[in-house]
Amino acid sequence: MHRVYFDNNATTPVLPEVLEAMQPYFSNHFGNASSIHHHGQETRAAVERARESVAALLGCKASEIVFTSGGTEADNLAIFGLVREGDHVVSSTIEHHAVLNSCKHLQSTGCEVTYVPVDARGLVDPDAVRRALRPNTRLITIMMANNETGVLQPVEEIGKIANEADIYFHTDAVQAAAKVDIDVKQVGCDLLSISGHKMHAPQGVGALYVHKGTRLQPMLYGGSHERSRRAGTENVPAIVGLGKAAALAKAALNRGEFSPMAQMRDHIERQILAQIEATGVNGGGAPRVPNTTNICFDGIEGEALVIALDLKGLAISTGAACSSGAIEPSHVLLAMGLPAERARASIRFSLGKQNTREEVDFALSLLSPTVDRLRELSPVYNKQAVSH
Ligand SMILES: Cc1ncc(COP(=O)(O)O)c(C=O)c1O
Repeated sequence: MHRVYFDNNATTPVLPEVLEAMQPYFSNHFGNASSIHHHGQETRAAVERARESVAALLGCKASEIVFTSGGTEADNLAIFGLVREGDHVVSSTIEHHAVLNSCKHLQSTGCEVTYVPVDARGLVDPDAVRRALRPNTRLITIMMANNETGVLQPVEEIGKIANEADIYFHTDAVQAAAKVDIDVKQVGCDLLSISGHKMHAPQGVGALYVHKGTRLQPMLYGGSHERSRRAGTENVPAIVGLGKAAALAKAALNRGEFSPMAQMRDHIERQILAQIEATGVNGGGAPRVPNTTNICFDGIEGEALVIALDLKGLAISTGAACSSGAIEPSHVLLAMGLPAERARASIRFSLGKQNTREEVDFALSLLSPTVDRLRELSPVYNKQAVSH
């Protein structure tokens, strides 16, 4: 069956060049990067080259990059590495669960957390962040790009507020890295998380930018790997893959290769809105990463549309992969003020480097008849009543 994959915010395929770069480190160059002999030196050099390349993507020094097992660990290390009992944290209502559930855990251990709301476009108001600050605020953790809507948050303004108040600022850039230019100095953050598998590197590797001088309590104890910030033998092939993916992304960003992707995304939106009645883009009025759109199809159950389209060869998603299967509507869309039934009727399309215009046409050809059929079956869909 012809299959098209538009769920790149869940995970991306490893690019052939990335796989090629990784391959020697599974067998030929297998040394432990901490060993002092030739084999260790070889892999140490590869890890340090990857560090340089991730640092170049983020505009920081190589020594400020800590490799982790992914975005979740990077978020956890940033939060639990800094926050202590009695501290106050400012976050937002639309964070990924890697941040939200870390904050929830903090609340159970004697910390206070303020979750700043978002407006109907999915944007945090920097003034609300400022107003939330207290004398004991230790950390602001607000994401750069939302995984469900692609909405880019005003992180530079938040960074300024954090710097003025002398408070640490962490941003989860898992869905922004390799899609938009990032310069940690311009963002003004102390900590920034990325994840390999959202940028065409393998699953199970990520990185945390830690501004020089930021003292983090490690979460893992063991050897003095990663300058004692993250113990454990490095996952060399995956780190090499992340380094290669970062270099490819940097070159692609420099060449402006993401504007065709944004055009494809905009084409999908325009066509859906023109061809299918009672549809709307969630977060469409805000700045967004170029690959993501989140669309509400009134009167359908998002999960039913995902399954129906999967049977026809199109992979999309209702939002966060980890909550698929759960009946609850997306916390992100609810936070934007969507009623529960509209949040449940919303679908995310997320493009990757491998997607083509032909795939977009294929997806569009499936959508209208599938939505029509589901609406015919829907007890709640009423043509006369819909409006957007
Ligand atoms: C915004 C955001 N943060 C964190 C994560 C977690 O990253 P990982 O899957 O590498 O643990 C994800 C993954 O979906 C994400 O989208």
